[in-house]
Order: sequence, then C-alpha cells, then structure tokens
Amino acid sequence: MNFEYTEEQIMAQQSARDLAQKEFIKDVIERDAKAIFPKNHVQTLAELGFMGMQVAPEWDGTGMDTISYVLAIEEISKIDSSLGVIMSVNNSLVCWPIENYGTDEQKEKYLKPLARGDKLGAFLLSEPEAGSDATKQRTTAVEDGDHYIINGTKNWITNGGTADTYVVIAHTHPEQGHRGINAFVMDSKLEGISVGPHEDKMGMRSSDTHSVMFTDVKVPKENRLGDDGMGFKIAMKTLEGGRLGIAAQALGLASGAYEFALKYAQERKAFGTEIINHQDVAFKLADMATEIEQMRLLALHAAWLKDQGKSYGTASAMAKLACAEKAMKITTDAVQIHGGYGYVKEYHVERLMRDAKLTQIYEGTSEIQKIVISRAIRG
Ligand code: CAA
Repeated sequence: MNFEYTEEQIMAQQSARDLAQKEFIKDVIERDAKAIFPKNHVQTLAELGFMGMQVAPEWDGTGMDTISYVLAIEEISKIDSSLGVIMSVNNSLVCWPIENYGTDEQKEKYLKPLARGDKLGAFLLSEPEAGSDATKQRTTAVEDGDHYIINGTKNWITNGGTADTYVVIAHTHPEQGHRGINAFVMDSKLEGISVGPHEDKMGMRSSDTHSVMFTDVKVPKENRLGDDGMGFKIAMKTLEGGRLGIAAQALGLASGAYEFALKYAQERKAFGTEIINHQDVAFKLADMATEIEQMRLLALHAAWLKDQGKSYGTASAMAKLACAEKAMKITTDAVQIHGGYGYVKEYHVERLMRDAKLTQIYEGTSEIQKIVISRAIRG
C-alpha cells in the first residue's frame, strides 16, 4: 500500500485549494444568501480542466485519476460545497455514463463539450414518486419509429436549470420492471422540456435545483445510452461514482469546518486562555481530526479501487455513508466551538453545517447506502 500522493495528485489538490481559498471564498457568503449560481467560478474550473477531470484526453478531458478527483472536490468543498456538487454531477453523473456507455457519435457531440466545460450536464433520475425507490420510474419513453416520445416529471435535479445536456432515465417497457428502463442523453432545450421554479433550499444554496417536465419530447433513437433495457443498470453504475464524489464533498465540508474551528480555538480567549487549552474544546478537535482521517481513508480507498479497475460500489457506499454522517457531526461541533459566532454567516461554519445535511440525503440517503452495503455483506 502506498500512502503517498503522486505529483499529479498534489497538483490537482493544490490548485483546487488555491482557487477555493483565494477566489471562491470571496463571494461564497453572498452567493449562499442570495442563492446565486456561480457561473464565473464554473468557468474557471472548466479552464483548469476540473469539469472533465477523469474523461480521457481523446474526448477533451483531463484524464486524471479518481484520487486526484477526490482531493480536488475535498478542497473546493471546504469553502464552497455547492461548487463541489456542480463539479461532481458534471464529472460523475453525466460525463461518466456517456464515456462508458455512449457511442463515438454521442461522445463527439455531447461528451467533448461537457468535458471541456463549455457545456454543463445534469442527471435526471429522481421523480416526485420515485426517489429512493428508483425502479418505480413513471417517466415514459415510448418507441415511435426512429424516435422515443418522453413524458413525465423529474425532481430535485442538480444543475436542472442551468444544464445544457441531460442524462435522462425513463421507462420504455413498464411491464418488464427495471429491465424495461432506458437512459438517454439529450439537449436540455428540446421542444417539450420545461424547467420548474428554483428550489429554495436550506443548504447548497448556490447550486441550482429544479424539477424538469417532459411533454411529448421527441428524442432520436440514436440518443439512447447502451442497449435497450440497460438504463437502470447504467443509473446504478453511474451512482457508484457519484456517491464517491459526494463522499469527497462531505469530507471537504468536515475538513473545512475543522480548519475554521481549529483557527478560532487558537485565537479566541475565555477564562484567561485560548479556548483550545480547555479540554472539552481540545478533545472535540481531536475527535474531529481523527474522524476526518477515517473519512479520507474510506474515500481514497474507494477511489483507489476504481482506479485499479476493481469493483468499488460497496466501498463507495461505505465512504458516502460514513463521510455524510461524520460531516453532519463535525460541522455541528465546529459551530459549537465557535459559540455565538458560529451561528452567524460571517464565520462560514453555519453554512457548512447546513450544506452537510444534504450529503445525508442526495445520491442515495444514508439509509439507501446501508441497503447497498448490507446486501453486499450478505452476499
Ligand atoms: N450496478 C449494476 N447493477 C445494479 C447495481 C449496481 N450498482 N445495483 C443494482 N443493480 C441491478 C440489480 O442487479 C438488478 O438487476 P437484475 O434483476 O437484472 O439482477 C437491478 O439493478 C435492480 O436491483 P435491486 O433489485 O437491488 O433494486 P431495488 O429496487 O431493490 O433498489 C437500490 C436498489 C440500491 C435501493 C436503488 O433503488 C437505489 O440506489 N436507490 C436510490 C437512488 C438514488 O440514489 N437516487 C439519487 C438520484 S441522483 C440525485 O441525488 C440528484 C442529483 O442531481 C445529485
């Protein structure tokens, strides 16, 4: 086992850290308060190759490994986890299924601009009545000659309002259950697609979340990803990587909150000394530092498995479960260490705590991760 990062991994980590600590921090409080989508920062990420980090150079990506990807998302999410999820969705939930299941024509048309960051993607699986129970898709894709006609509503779509490209999951043969589901790649501006109002969220407020409605949307058959009926498996495989991105994001939320809390505890005085000299604060920080190391090891192990071409679905579910749960606890403790200052926006930690909550919910709740893990250990 080698615990040392390569030069490339350190470069990815360092440039993400510089961007977050020097640039993204400047307007993060205002963007959170006003729920402003960070278009200019997404552009900067694109210019540095972060929007198609793992896509092969042949398809205009940066071709980095998954460890670099985890390190970069962690650094960005320490300051701005909304940018972390925008980046994670584009890389893991959109570029990945197109690169792995798409035809060369689909890659040329859709993957290249997504990997360059000229276009942004969204992944449309969840529905008003099919969130955790994802096989119960009500959106239909009915065959009609050379096309499919898509009808239905998708919910909670990250990048839903800003994305140019959608990966959409829909039922073609409902009588065949999950084996009748298909996945499609399409332009988000097709006739018949409409976007619902911006969701006014508790956290991750700078990422845009919308419902998306399909009314008789005509999609050419050549837009289907993979073979007929492969859609559910494509979605599940895609989520294995997506969950690793969210684990990295939760790791960033926790390590960001810890760094703010450590600095505050070394500066703030109470009862005649810096509060880090009070055992309760010092022990909290010791627990936080230890748990963050555990989180990082789980996330990097899943990333390493993926890079080795080994099965990583269970490891990624474990990383997501542990990182999300610990991020909630660590960000809450960081607020506690700050006392009253932690409860106001200027000190950042209340935002990280609100943002952490979503990591326990999206891309499979913590309970769904336990289903995935318990099925794997049962064999
Ligand atoms: N890889 C490949 N195939 C898989 C798989 C995987 N990881 N997981 C399941 N499958 C296959 C199974 O083998 C099975 O196929 P066969 O019958 O042919 O063998 C099929 O999929 C159905 O599997 P299950 O019987 O296990 O299905 P289930 O109904 O019990 O559900 C589940 C499984 C894991 C709970 C799944 O429904 C699930 O992951 N739910 C959560 C969905 C989710 O994460 N949603 C978030 C959406 S994205 C988002 O959050 C929005 C955003 O923009 C960020």
